[in-house]
Amino acid sequence: MNEMSKPGAEAKSGHNAPGSATLTLDGTGKSVTLPLVPGTIGPAVADIRKVYPELGIFTFDPGYGGTAATESKITYIDGDAGILLHRGYPIEQLAEKCSFLEVAYLLLNGELPNKAQMAEFDTGVTRHTMIHEQLRRFYDGFRRDAHPMAVMTGVVGAMSAFYHDSLDINDPEHRRISAFRLIAKVPTIAAWAYKYSIGQPFMYPRNDLSYAENFLYMMNAVPAEPYNVSPVLARAMDRILILHADHEQNASTSTVRLAGSTGANPFACIAAGIASLWGPAHGGANEAVLKMLAEIGHPKNIPDFIAKVKDKNSNVRLMGFGHRVYKNFDPRAKILQETCHEVLTELGIKDEPLLDLAMELEKIATHDEYFVSRKLYPNVDFYSGIILKAMGIPTSMFTVLFAVARTTGWISQWKEMMEDPSQRIGRPRQVYTGAPLRDVPTAAERG
Ligand code: SDX
Repeated sequence: MNEMSKPGAEAKSGHNAPGSATLTLDGTGKSVTLPLVPGTIGPAVADIRKVYPELGIFTFDPGYGGTAATESKITYIDGDAGILLHRGYPIEQLAEKCSFLEVAYLLLNGELPNKAQMAEFDTGVTRHTMIHEQLRRFYDGFRRDAHPMAVMTGVVGAMSAFYHDSLDINDPEHRRISAFRLIAKVPTIAAWAYKYSIGQPFMYPRNDLSYAENFLYMMNAVPAEPYNVSPVLARAMDRILILHADHEQNASTSTVRLAGSTGANPFACIAAGIASLWGPAHGGANEAVLKMLAEIGHPKNIPDFIAKVKDKNSNVRLMGFGHRVYKNFDPRAKILQETCHEVLTELGIKDEPLLDLAMELEKIATHDEYFVSRKLYPNVDFYSGIILKAMGIPTSMFTVLFAVARTTGWISQWKEMMEDPSQRIGRPRQVYTGAPLRDVPTAAERG
């Protein structure tokens, strides 16, 4: 059990106490006192809202490396200690002891459900797994070889045309129904994106299956014969969904929050999150890891590949490594590596060259000065693709699966923002370094 998961454990990283910080503008005698707002655990934040009104300057933090954009009670990451908590519970314990829907309930409501609450939540999700029959027609508008993330972005966004008109986002009950609709329908939309890409008939969700079983059923079953979901694969899928559910204010979650801050409907916000997750620097990395391993091909080629990564001119990165917050092992990567071995063993896959290659790559990279000095460790995307490939999930569907899981985190963060009476539209400022004020020259003056 990691240090943080012991009761009363304090945050390792940062200063976390009330008080204040002072910012002084040289040569003006002007200062502003910045109140420190402590967190439950983790670094306190300096409230900088007075800086511009009192000093007439903006603060600057491209990429938000050291800036908190919101207060949240949902997830906490200690990047130095490699700790991830959801509502205070360590990810290791949640992955071992809970189902994905129990974690979804936790993220949405703040506490794990009791038996009655779980039964009601499970029924609520189960009753919303079908999508409007006219949404089927949207698939026909895509090329068969369209990337499934393009289909997800389009069809989830199109949900706004089917469910938004009966939705008052300021009504908690309407928000609750939207959360159910999104959590329940994204696996159906995702599985149908895959079926469409291979020209097979869509499989409708079944109410007798669990969330993970239903997804695997809709992905793999055909109308021509019965299909029984492997309990091992269902448990592995459920755990993978848990590990990808939420992760503080990452790029796609911040996208959802910024879209939601304008009052946009939740379907449009989640579609924006899907689009943001698609990038290879973010959720698209799991697909990129498999492509990278295929390109390396054999452990004997690892040194040449590592040399290419170190060559700044190559623009080659070690995909699945590094993280803006984790400067230690991503706890999810550790759990996924263990799950990898379990799934391969359960599937009777004695040797998986990709896993051997990945483990050799991890061993070399985590002992190489270039990566150690930059605190680059395996992240959630490094092993997930190997498990998904072993489970028969096509590479193009890896990020889609990430989106299915993260929809629960996104909608939980959106709900938290919508319930915050102080929330206002997000509108970052800038430092302008363009042309000074000037007059438009006439066409003749422009020559
Ligand atoms: C996810 O934010 C989240 O929480 C995201 C996520 C979630 O659950 O939502 O955890 C999911 O997106 C995980 C990350 C998946 N992405 C990848 O695996 C792609 C490969 N990794 C990187 O591109 C990179 O590490 C990022 C994007 C993840 C983080 O980028 P940062 O924090 O902006 O780091 P940086 O670019 O400033 O890098 C610092 C140094 C640089 O070298 P120097 O200029 O100091 O010499 O480290 C180098 C970088 O060149 N570096 C890498 C590297 N990642 C950073 N060098 C080689 N390979 C890498 N993967």
